[in-house]
Amino acid sequence: MKLCVALDLESKKECLELAKSLKGLDIWLKIGMRAFYRDGINFINELKKIENFKIFLDLKLYDIPKTMADASFELAQIGVDMINLHASSGEAAMSAVIDRLNQAKTRPLVLAVTALTSFDDASFKSIYNENLNKAILHLAKISAKSGLDGVVCSAFESAQIKQAISNEFITLCPGIRPFGESKNDQKRVVSLELAKEQKADFIVIGRPIYQAKEPQNIIKQILKNI
Ligand code: C5P
Repeated sequence: MKLCVALDLESKKECLELAKSLKGLDIWLKIGMRAFYRDGINFINELKKIENFKIFLDLKLYDIPKTMADASFELAQIGVDMINLHASSGEAAMSAVIDRLNQAKTRPLVLAVTALTSFDDASFKSIYNENLNKAILHLAKISAKSGLDGVVCSAFESAQIKQAISNEFITLCPGIRPFGESKNDQKRVVSLELAKEQKADFIVIGRPIYQAKEPQNIIKQILKNI
């Protein structure tokens, strides 16, 4: 299981300072909408100068197939290691993305968001009028069928998805609260222990790390536990 640290801090300076303090650790960095919309591609280049960190660019694409294929091609040019899109963009869009990226010699891993970890059964049902767990399995299956490398899901669903598809199908799980921290806006929150039991390939952690007094210590404790 790999730890992916979400760089969702208030300024580029703070993100870079955190990244500098993480040199040498066996982690991935996640750049989300906040940092990317604010600091752009230069920010990723600056991070790479600090260390050749593995980078997950979490922009959750959702559009028509051509726009998604074009956008994912552009993201691949940045040289990041993993990107993502919404599984609910559908098989045509997901296949278009993979077909386009496969034209190059190498491509980033592509994951599909099933249901955001900020949804619980009730909030999911109120949007999609569908059972959350059933929908997640279905979305994971169409993502696999479209050739994606894995899904973003909560760790509650990880083992079930792997069982339905394959052990190699990647599960990346946000909504982790390693030491019983506040849930914040997350609903499907999981501990480190359960994430391990559920065979999550990646766990994504933001606030419990960057809001801690000593983020490096928390990360070291997490790494010890995984
Ligand atoms: O601060 P926290 O640990 O809740 O951060 C979780 C990170 O994972 C955020 O950057 C959020 O955008 C991202 N994420 C998520 N749920 C998803 C996909 C991504 O929380 N389904």
